[in-house]
Amino acid sequence: MKLSDCLREFQTGGLRCTPDDKPFGDVILSERTPQLERDIAGHPSLKPQSFLRQVVHAALPLGEGFIVDPFMGSGSTIAAAEAIGSHSIGIERFFDYYELSCVAIPKLLGVKTYLAKEWLQLPLI
Ligand SMILES: C[S@@+](CC[C@H](N)C(=O)[O-])C[C@H]1O[C@@H](n2cnc3c(N)ncnc32)[C@H](O)[C@@H]1O
Repeated sequence: MKLSDCLREFQTGGLRCTPDDKPFGDVILSERTPQLERDIAGHPSLKPQSFLRQVVHAALPLGEGFIVDPFMGSGSTIAAAEAIGSHSIGIERFFDYYELSCVAIPKLLGVKTYLAKEWLQLPLI
């Protein structure tokens, strides 16, 4: 199956270019999760919005479909998806973390990131 067939049939199979129209690279810029985000979501494995927004954008090559995170924790992936205008579904085993995510997601999706990429700063929608 060619990539074009895969994209047509399953809307997946490749990585989406960045919003500034560059190919998604082999190296993803990241950082330690900022204190501001750790203050919002006190999950021991919290990932930075700057990293997750790049990944969720790339994961939907046609910009269609849903980001699904079956191990949602505090909901950082869901917040990143919402921040760039993608639909998402999160699943979390522990009710305490689920409750944390309900509070954290609306706050995380609004944070500005420290990485010097314009499109990571604000929601694209
Ligand atoms: C690595 S953490 C995710 C952290 C998340 N990316 C964040 O930034 O907050 C993995 C999460 O998966 C949850 N988990 C583990 N087993 C699970 C299962 N079977 N179903 C759903 N969630 C599960 C854990 O409770 C934990 O919160």
